[in-house]
Amino acid sequence: MIRNLYINGAEHEIPIAPSETLLTVLRRLGYYGVKHGCESGECGACAVLLDGKPVNSCVMLAAQAEGHRIETIEAVGQHPQQGWKLTPGLHPLQQAFVESGAIQCGYCTPAQILAAKQLLECNPNPSEAEVRDALSGVLCRCTGYLKPVQAVLRAAAILRGEEVAPVETPESGGPIPAPAEWLSPEGGESDLAEGLTEPTFEPPAGSTGVATHTRLMPRIQITPQAEAYRSVGKPEKKVDAVKLAQGKPAFAADFEKRDMLVAKVLHSPVAHARIKRIDVSRARQLPGVAAVLTWQDIPRVVYSTAGQSDPIPGPLDTFSLDYKVRYVGDRVAFVAAETEAIAEKALELIEVEYEPLPELFDPAEAMQPGAPILHDEPEYVNFGESDPKRNLAAHIHIDIGDVEKGFKEADYIFEGDYEVPKVQQAHIEPHVVITYWDEDDRLVIRTSTQVPFHARRILAPVLNLPVKRIRVIKPRIGGGFGSKQEVMVEDVAAHLTIATGRPVIYEYTREEEFIAGRSRHPMRVHLKTGVKKDGTITANAMRVLTDTGAYGCHALTVTGNTGHKSMALYVGDGPYRKAPNIQFIADVVYTNHPPAGAYRGYGVPQGYWPLERHMEKIARKLGLDPLEFRLKNALRAGELHPFSTAWSEGREPRPEIIETCALEECVRQGKAVIGWDQKYGREEWHQVPGKPHLRRGIGAALVMQGTAIPYLDMGGASIKMNDDGSFNLLIGATDLGTGSDTVLAQMAAELLGAPVEDVIVYSSDTDFTPFDKGAYASSTTYISGAAVAQAAARVAERIRQRAAAMLNARDKGLPPISPEEIRLANRHAIAPDGRSVTLAEVAHNALHHENQEQIMATASYMSPVSPPPFAAQFAEVTVDVQTGQVVVDRLVMAVDSGVIVNPLTASGQVEGGMTQALGYAVCEEMRYDERGRARERDLRDYHIFQAHEMPQLETIFVETFEPSHPFGVKAVAEIPMDGVAPAVGNAVLDACGAQVDNNPITPEKVWRALKPQE
Ligand code: FES
Ligand code: FES
Repeated sequence: MIRNLYINGAEHEIPIAPSETLLTVLRRLGYYGVKHGCESGECGACAVLLDGKPVNSCVMLAAQAEGHRIETIEAVGQHPQQGWKLTPGLHPLQQAFVESGAIQCGYCTPAQILAAKQLLECNPNPSEAEVRDALSGVLCRCTGYLKPVQAVLRAAAILRGEEVAPVETPESGGPIPAPAEWLSPEGGESDLAEGLTEPTFEPPAGSTGVATHTRLMPRIQITPQAEAYRSVGKPEKKVDAVKLAQGKPAFAADFEKRDMLVAKVLHSPVAHARIKRIDVSRARQLPGVAAVLTWQDIPRVVYSTAGQSDPIPGPLDTFSLDYKVRYVGDRVAFVAAETEAIAEKALELIEVEYEPLPELFDPAEAMQPGAPILHDEPEYVNFGESDPKRNLAAHIHIDIGDVEKGFKEADYIFEGDYEVPKVQQAHIEPHVVITYWDEDDRLVIRTSTQVPFHARRILAPVLNLPVKRIRVIKPRIGGGFGSKQEVMVEDVAAHLTIATGRPVIYEYTREEEFIAGRSRHPMRVHLKTGVKKDGTITANAMRVLTDTGAYGCHALTVTGNTGHKSMALYVGDGPYRKAPNIQFIADVVYTNHPPAGAYRGYGVPQGYWPLERHMEKIARKLGLDPLEFRLKNALRAGELHPFSTAWSEGREPRPEIIETCALEECVRQGKAVIGWDQKYGREEWHQVPGKPHLRRGIGAALVMQGTAIPYLDMGGASIKMNDDGSFNLLIGATDLGTGSDTVLAQMAAELLGAPVEDVIVYSSDTDFTPFDKGAYASSTTYISGAAVAQAAARVAERIRQRAAAMLNARDKGLPPISPEEIRLANRHAIAPDGRSVTLAEVAHNALHHENQEQIMATASYMSPVSPPPFAAQFAEVTVDVQTGQVVVDRLVMAVDSGVIVNPLTASGQVEGGMTQALGYAVCEEMRYDERGRARERDLRDYHIFQAHEMPQLETIFVETFEPSHPFGVKAVAEIPMDGVAPAVGNAVLDACGAQVDNNPITPEKVWRALKPQE
C-alpha cells in the first residue's frame, strides 16, 4: 500500500508492505545512516527520532510511522564546505564527537548522536549520569563509552554558549621525561614522578557517582625519543570521523546494486550428522528464488576459514558445503532470492534427512581412544601435529630449560586448575558481504573483513577462480575484534553470484553471529609452579586443553599464544632469569561445538586469567607483596624472550631480545593512581561504612603481549603527491575502528611536512592498494606504520631533491642548497637560510613544468622482531557477601606501548579493550545445552556493558622508544584485554576471600565460594 512518510522535513509517498519495518524502508530509501546490529530492539544502532524521541526503527512497522516526524542522522549536519556552497556545518554534537575521539568504528555513532540530541533538546545541562542514561540504549563495543559521554557533555556546554577549551590530552605538549632513576638503575629519587602520581580517592568533580569519566594521565617517557615530532604523538582527529559522524554510507551494506539478491543459509539443527538426503526442489520452485545450492552443486574444495598468511598454520578441514554437519549452526544449504522474506520461506521448504552421528562436547572425552571422529574426510590436510584420528586440531609441546629440575630446586610447589569460557566478539556491525561480477567478468567482493588480501587468496581455489579475477574491497568496518579475520560469509555470496550471475548480499543476523560466528576458545588450564622461600620462581609449567569446536581455524596459533605471551612473563630471578625453566603443553581438540577463532588478545587473555590468579595465590601463601613478587620474577629489558627460541606459530623460531620494558614503572604509576598502598591490606578501607554486607577489594595483574608476527607479517604502503601538495596514502591495512588510518596518516604527515588533513587515506582494495596482511596481531601501527614511514621518507627525498633544484634555479646568486639541507614542515620545503618553496609548488613543478614525474613511492615492511608491550592492570571492586554480587568500581591500566602516535585513539583502544575484558571478567559467557544448542542467541541474553553500567576507567601511557621502529611504537590494541579479568578476580579475593578460579565471576560463583566459610 502507498504510505506517506515525513522524513527529515520532506514528504515521501512510497509503497510499503504491511510487515515492513521502518528500518527496512529507511534503508531502502537510502538513509544509510540508520544502522542495524540485531533487528530485535537490543542494540539501538537503528535508532531514529520519531517526533523528537528516539525509537528503534527495527521494531517499528513503517506504516506506524505515518503521520509522525522522522529524523535520521542525515538531517543533523553536514560538511561545512561543499564546493562553492557553504553549509551550516556539523551539528555541535557531531563536532564534539569528532574532536573528542568518541568515534571508533563509528557504527553506533549516528544513533548515539541522535539519542544525545534528544537529551540536549530536553535537558541542556545534563549530568554525566543523565548522559549515560540517554546513551544506554545504544550499545557500543568499541569505546567503553567514555569519550562519547565526554563528547555529549562538551556539546552541551557549546550549545549553552559556554567557552570550551580545545580538546587536548595532558601530554599534548609532548611526553614528560621519566624520572632519573628510571633512566639509570643507580639514579636517585625524582620528585617529578611523585608529582605526577598523586593518588585519587574521590570521583572527579562533577561526577554523579554512577560512573565517572576517565582521566587520561600524562605520558611518562622512559627512554628518550629521537626527536620532537609535530604530528606523531598529537591527539589528531580521526581522518574518517567527519563522515562517520554524519552517518555517510561508508559500510559494506551501505551500497546499492541493481537486481541484488538476498542470501540466506540453512543452518544445521543438530550437532553431528551425515546428510542422508536433501531435497531442495520445493525451494527452487518458489517464485522469487534465484538459486538453492547444496554440497552437491559446488566444487568440493577443502580449505581453512582462518584469515592467515600462507601457508595457513592450521589444518584444512572445511568445505563451503559438506555432506556432514559438525555443530548446531553448521551450513546445510545456501539460498538466493529476490527478498529476504522469500529467501527465508525457501529455507523452510528444504527437506533434509539427517543420519545422526555420536556427539562430542567434552574435549577431554573427544581425545580418548575410540571416541567418534569428527573429521574423517579424505581431503583433510594436516598441519604440524594435528591428528584427526584423535580429534586433535593441534598439539603443542614447548620445553624451555628443564622444569623437572626446577621443581626439585623449589622450596614449594603450587598447583592449580582454572577454566576460561567461550565468549563472543559481539561487534555491532554483523558480518556482511556483497558480491557481483564487474564489466570485466571479475568477481568483486565488497566485504566487512579484516583481511582483504588473505580473503582473496583463500577464496580463489574455493570458487575456482584465479586470484587475478577476484577483487576484494574493504569499506569501513563496524568493529571486528578478530571475528572478521575469518572468511565466513564471502564464499556464500560468491557461490550464489556465480550460480545466478547476479549481485548478492549476505549478512549475518545477530543469531547467526552467535550460532555460526566465531568466539574466544574456551580452555581448561593446569598450572604448576616451583618457588623458593624468597619468592624466586624456579619452574613454571602450564598444561592446556582447548575446545576448538568443529573446525580448527586458528587452533594452533591461538593456543600457542596462550603460552607464548603469558608464560614468557615470569622467567624467575637470579640464575633462573638467565636460564628459565618453563613448559607449555597444549591439546587443541575438535568437539561438536561451534568453532572458536580469533578474538582480540588471541589466546593471551586465556593465559593470564590462570597465571595471574595463580601468582596472586602464591604471593599470598608466602606472605609476599603480590606486586613485588611478580616484578622480582618478571622479564626485563635486555633479556631474551624465552619463547623466541622455542616457538613461532608453527614456523622457525629465532632469538629475540626485549629492547624496551617499562613494567616496573607501569606498576609504580598504576599503584599510585589507584592508591594501592593506601588500600591494599588496610582493613578499614575494605569496609563500607554502614554496610556490613559490602566489602571492598583491590587487585592487580601484570601482562605482556606481542607486536606482529616476526618474519611473517608484511604491510605495504604507497604514497603519491597531488597538484596541491596533498598526498594519497594507499594502504592495504585495515582500520576496524582502531584509528589505524589516522595514525598511519600521522606518520606520513610527520615525514612529509604536511598536516594530517593533507594526507588522504585509502584502505583497502586488493586492486589498488599494496598487500597488507590485514588487521590482527596488534601489528598495523608497527608493521604498516613502518612501511608508511619508508614510503614517506622516499617521497620526502624526491621532494627535497626537486625543491633544492627549484631554489637553486630561482635564486641563482645565492649559495646553492643541497637536498640534504632541506627540511619539510608546514607544507613547505625549507632551506637552512629560510628560503622555501611550498609543497604545492614542488608538485606543480613535478607534474607540469620541468622533467615531469609523478612523485610517489611504495614500500613494504616485515619485522624480524615482535617487541612486547607491557602493562600493569588494576581493579577495585565492591562485593556483596550476602548475594555474591560484584560491582567493579574502577579499572586502571598503566601501559608501555612504546611511543603513542595518537593519545586519543590509543586511549580509546585501552578504554574499549578494558570494557570488553570487563565482560570477560564478570558476565560474558556462551553456553550450550546437552545437545550443543546455544543458549545465548541475542544481545539480551548475552550481556555487553552499557553506558550507564561502566566503572571509572583510567589510562596511563608509560612511553618507551622501541628502537626497531622508526617512530618507536609498540602495540596497544590487544593488551587491554589481558589483565582486567584476573585483576578483578584478585580484587574479589582481596575483598572477601572468595576464590573463583573460573571466569566470569558471577554472583553465584562468588556466593558458592563464600558459602563454606559461613
Ligand atoms: S535495536 Fe534495531 S537493529 Fe538493533
Ligand atoms: S564505535 Fe561504537 S560500536 Fe564501534
